[in-house]
Amino acid sequence: MEKVISITRCHNNQLWLVLLVSFLLFVLFISFDSSALIRDQNNWYFSTIIYGDHKSSANTYVKYSNDDYEETEDGNSDSCFGRYIYMHDLPSRFNDDVIKNCRSLVKWFDMCPYLVNEGFGSQIHNPMNVLSKNGWFATNQFMLEIIFRDRMKKYECLTNNSSLASAIFVPFYAGLDVGRYLWGYNITVRDSVGVDLAKWLASKPEWKRMSGRDHFFISGRIGWDFHRQTSNEGDWGSKLMKLPEFMNMTMLSIETTSWSNEFGIPYPTYFHPSSDHEVLEWQTKMRRIKRPYLFSFVGAPRPGKNDSIREELMEQCIASGKKCQLFSCFSSSQKSCDNPVDVMNVFRRSAFCLQPSGDSFTRRSIFDSILAGCIPVFFHPGSAYAQYIWHLPKDYTKYSVLISEFDVRSRNISINETLKGFSKKQVLSMRKEVIRLIPNIIYAKSKLEDLEDAFDMASKGVLERVDNIRRKIEDGKDPSIGFAEENSWVSKLIGIGRENEWDRFF
Ligand SMILES: *[C@@H]1O[C@H](CO)[C@@H](O)[C@H](O)[C@H]1NC(C)=O
Ligand SMILES: *[C@@H]1O[C@H](CO)[C@@H](O)[C@H](O)[C@H]1NC(C)=O
Ligand SMILES: *[C@@H]1O[C@H](CO)[C@@H](O)[C@H](O)[C@H]1NC(C)=O
Ligand SMILES: *[C@@H]1O[C@H](CO)[C@@H](O)[C@H](O)[C@H]1NC(C)=O
Ligand SMILES: *[C@@H]1O[C@H](CO)[C@@H](O)[C@H](O)[C@H]1NC(C)=O
Ligand SMILES: *[C@@H]1O[C@H](CO)[C@@H](O)[C@H](O)[C@H]1NC(C)=O
Ligand SMILES: *[C@@H]1O[C@H](CO)[C@@H](O)[C@H](O)[C@H]1NC(C)=O
Repeated sequence: MEKVISITRCHNNQLWLVLLVSFLLFVLFISFDSSALIRDQNNWYFSTIIYGDHKSSANTYVKYSNDDYEETEDGNSDSCFGRYIYMHDLPSRFNDDVIKNCRSLVKWFDMCPYLVNEGFGSQIHNPMNVLSKNGWFATNQFMLEIIFRDRMKKYECLTNNSSLASAIFVPFYAGLDVGRYLWGYNITVRDSVGVDLAKWLASKPEWKRMSGRDHFFISGRIGWDFHRQTSNEGDWGSKLMKLPEFMNMTMLSIETTSWSNEFGIPYPTYFHPSSDHEVLEWQTKMRRIKRPYLFSFVGAPRPGKNDSIREELMEQCIASGKKCQLFSCFSSSQKSCDNPVDVMNVFRRSAFCLQPSGDSFTRRSIFDSILAGCIPVFFHPGSAYAQYIWHLPKDYTKYSVLISEFDVRSRNISINETLKGFSKKQVLSMRKEVIRLIPNIIYAKSKLEDLEDAFDMASKGVLERVDNIRRKIEDGKDPSIGFAEENSWVSKLIGIGRENEWDRFF
């Protein structure tokens, strides 16, 4: 909205434009799905509607994420202005070679079947009509690096001229690389590819421009895997995210640590549609489906973790009888937690889905449940609210429920009673919001028409961040202040309204 006002300010001597914009806005509000407006808080959405399709040529172009509106000298529009991204052409040892020997990617599993279809895995058809017709794949949770890179190759504002680019993408397969060495390799081996990449990047002309502060990469593994505490062989992970070069970059991953240059982006789900229509069709289906279960849990206990609440949740689920569906990943039944159809079939028939921490704060299941229109129930603000700040609304009560894991641990809270406490109207309103979020948390096969997917939201987040840093530099300020700070959970939660109260969780 502010942008619309600033448009009028720029042309305040042209009353007709004010009137035109007001009229168009009025038409916009009455004729568009209002959720689309709320969805797209970013301003160039308004601008593209006001000035027409961004493919068409308008007399004015809009400078992305800036308060000023400028006209190009020749009157041509460049809808990519401020949105260009340059992708480094890395030597293949940093990406393609990593997946060549796919059997070695994870010591415990064969990842080879998941690499097909640009990291989506094999296509799934639609048994028993659980899913929708098109766009479903058996996607593994660690494939985001391949998926994201492929999507970047199709990014509408990709440029091969780095001096035009607002941000520089480094298509490193960080998680797939370290995943090979997490078990049974010494720290030199675990660190070696990352150390090598840091050197490579710092030697490039693109680095000099902003000392890497316009660079970003993504990791399909959690941030903790790259933050080895010491150089003791027994410590977990690599030190990739602690290398000085990487500390100058923006790091996207499925789960961040407390560092402020890390941003959470959704885990990949099973749905990778090719058109708005496929998304809308699925949303309609999820809006209409009957949900006989009040809540459900899909997962396994953590017997080795004495602070895990999973066992307690599973017991409460069983004690709730028909209200709760328990899908235990430890059971020997035919159904499997690795089978997308079985998992989606549980979530799509439940009103609420329990999403406790597991080995770490987050889980892929959060996004599968949103995809199924099932309201996520969190037990820790680090499971989502402090993670996916570009993708999920700040008002968490609109789309989710938080039950303190402290209360579950001290066994003084009943999940079924708490969830039953929501009125039918409240549940419907939350579900509506969850279903509205579906496009934003999926990785589409390629750019959707009007809907924004998780890739769009992530690249927008990066561009805005780099833009702010660039302005800081232009204003003569030190870009390193606030760029990469530890213990920044509270600042990741800013705007939520309970950031200080939640301090005890971290
Ligand atoms: C890249 O863009 C810059 C800035 O617009 C321009 O000066 C340069 O000629 C371009 N390089 C190539 C190879 O097109
Ligand atoms: C980018 O690609 C275009 C067309 O293929 C080519 O003319 C141009 O020189 C390239 N620019 C750079 C910087 O490689
Ligand atoms: C680490 O392991 C590699 C290969 O397994 C070996 O060549 C190297 O000497 C080891 N380094 C140290 C410091 O142990
Ligand atoms: C990181 O950025 C700062 C400037 O903000 C620069 O002084 C420093 O050399 C950079 N580090 C590396 C490793 O490039
Ligand atoms: C959990 O186990 C650790 C040692 O493994 C112990 O220090 C800690 O006190 C235990 N916590 C609880 C809640 O029992
Ligand atoms: C709710 O769950 C508790 C266990 O937490 C159980 O004792 C109780 O019977 C359940 N109530 C209903 C109505 O299912
Ligand atoms: C459960 O116990 C904790 C203290 O252990 C308390 O802060 C909390 O308010 C209690 N919750 C309920 C629902 O009684």
